[in-house]
Amino acid sequence: MEFKNVVELNHPLITHKLGLLRKKGTGTKEFRELANEIGTFLCYKAMEDVELDEVEIETPICTMKTGKLNEDKFVFLPILRAGMGILDGVINVIPNAKVGHIGMYRDDANGHKPVNYFFKVPKNIDQKEVIILDPMLATGGSACDAIEALKEKGVKKMRFLCVIAAPEGLKRVTEAHPDVKIYCAHIDEKLNENAYIVPGLGDAGDRIYGTK
Ligand code: PRP
Ligand code: URA
Repeated sequence: MEFKNVVELNHPLITHKLGLLRKKGTGTKEFRELANEIGTFLCYKAMEDVELDEVEIETPICTMKTGKLNEDKFVFLPILRAGMGILDGVINVIPNAKVGHIGMYRDDANGHKPVNYFFKVPKNIDQKEVIILDPMLATGGSACDAIEALKEKGVKKMRFLCVIAAPEGLKRVTEAHPDVKIYCAHIDEKLNENAYIVPGLGDAGDRIYGTK
């Protein structure tokens, strides 16, 4: 399945780790570790087109020009709760990025529409590049609401990192926000009648926090 502005990680290591993550017998500890590892790979891919500042450094042998990431330019924005499940994985590689939080849950009694319950971002967010984190992109409702809330705050550059995406949600988000590039580890088959991703991995938040 091809979507414009969607990058699917296609790598044997990702397939391997994703297989372990999906397995219903995988417990909380291993699930968290795997989700964060996949988060690191997603971040690595998403940083592919980032511009570096040119700096001069001294090696033990000589001076040289090299590239330096302006880490301060980036804000990670996990969508609570499940987005926290990949935060460590991305913060490990960009440790000086800022972190904002957006709290949302899907109201399954109301057409799976997202309900926003928390929003806290750095003051100068309109000057930053925002990397939204959420392991699951299902109907795309949560992703669209998060992106819209950030656009209202003046954010111009966003990337969206997820572990598994459903085609239905990708279609919705890419049509509504063609300017936001989405990085996912895998595009799954479809949504089921309860708007869960098939084959998916179940409820990401519950599996990260052991709440069910
Ligand atoms: C999950 C997931 C996404 C959302 C995706 O969160 O983490 O935020 O559902 O579904 P959508 O694309 O149809 O909006 P959930 O609402 O279950 O909350 P949780 O993270 O607290 O478990
Ligand atoms: N949220 C999840 O955690 N899993 C799904 O399959 C869909 C939404």
